[in-house]
Amino acid sequence: MPVPPPEPADLADPAELAGTALPADRVGLLEGMTTTRAIRRYTDEPVPPDALRAMLFAASRAMSGSNRQPFRFLVLTDGPRAREAKRLIGTGARAVWNGKRANDGYDAGSGAMADSPKARMARTMEHFVDHFEDVPVLILPCLVRYRDPNPMEGASVYPACQNLLLAARALGYGGAFTGMQHSVDRELRELLHIPSGVFMAGTITIGRPAGRHGPVRRRPLGELVYGEEWEVAPDWAVDPPGTSFTAAGPPKKSPSA
Ligand SMILES: Cc1cc2nc3c(=O)[nH]c(=O)nc-3n(C[C@H](O)[C@H](O)[C@H](O)COP(=O)(O)O)c2cc1C
Repeated sequence: MPVPPPEPADLADPAELAGTALPADRVGLLEGMTTTRAIRRYTDEPVPPDALRAMLFAASRAMSGSNRQPFRFLVLTDGPRAREAKRLIGTGARAVWNGKRANDGYDAGSGAMADSPKARMARTMEHFVDHFEDVPVLILPCLVRYRDPNPMEGASVYPACQNLLLAARALGYGGAFTGMQHSVDRELRELLHIPSGVFMAGTITIGRPAGRHGPVRRRPLGELVYGEEWEVAPDWAVDPPGTSFTAAGPPKKSPSA
């Protein structure tokens, strides 16, 4: 039986927080890394300041090139700008999702069967965008650019995003990383005074998970790990007992998909 993670105390007083260690982590590191799902449904429970502090502290300890720490996080909960940012992203995300639903054929083939993985995924996405304004916490991870954009720069912000999601899991919360800020980039910059040299690297939502979430499903290790030659797996690349698998990706457009 897994031990439930500790409940963070609701410490709102900054002076008290400054004298308080991070909550104890009872989800082991490997267990956390191998069981963290994208969580898109939340209860309406707010996330208290000490839990946010722990998540953002974990995020801010991540690696970055030359330890420049170019990552910054806008953490939006329930202030007027937070509400407006959620509204902007929710409106953009609904438009994008409606296009994707049609283009990627979410309602075709197996998508017409209510219990198929494709139909379940469509319902989850629909719920996520329809209730975006209610997400307890919206975090915009940003990268302060110090040179021209290049393919490596994400490596100085995305590890921090993953640390944040893992810390959320360690504390009994859940989150989803998406690119939903993209379609309203200009409006968010205006609202939150984000300078032009700053890259908005994603949209992270955090809250207490609602409903049941199955195991992480990925391809078998041997399909993803190669040894001395491309596409030749080393002997040790075998999954542990009980691993769940999927090839997933966007739904196929063929009628049989
Ligand atoms: C670059 C990137 C973009 C993503 N964009 C979205 C998105 O627009 N909407 C969404 O609901 N999830 C998005 N996700 C979350 C992925 O769908 C999710 O990580 C993946 O399906 C695995 O989910 P699982 O860990 O629950 O199995 C994105 C993840 C990444 C890394």
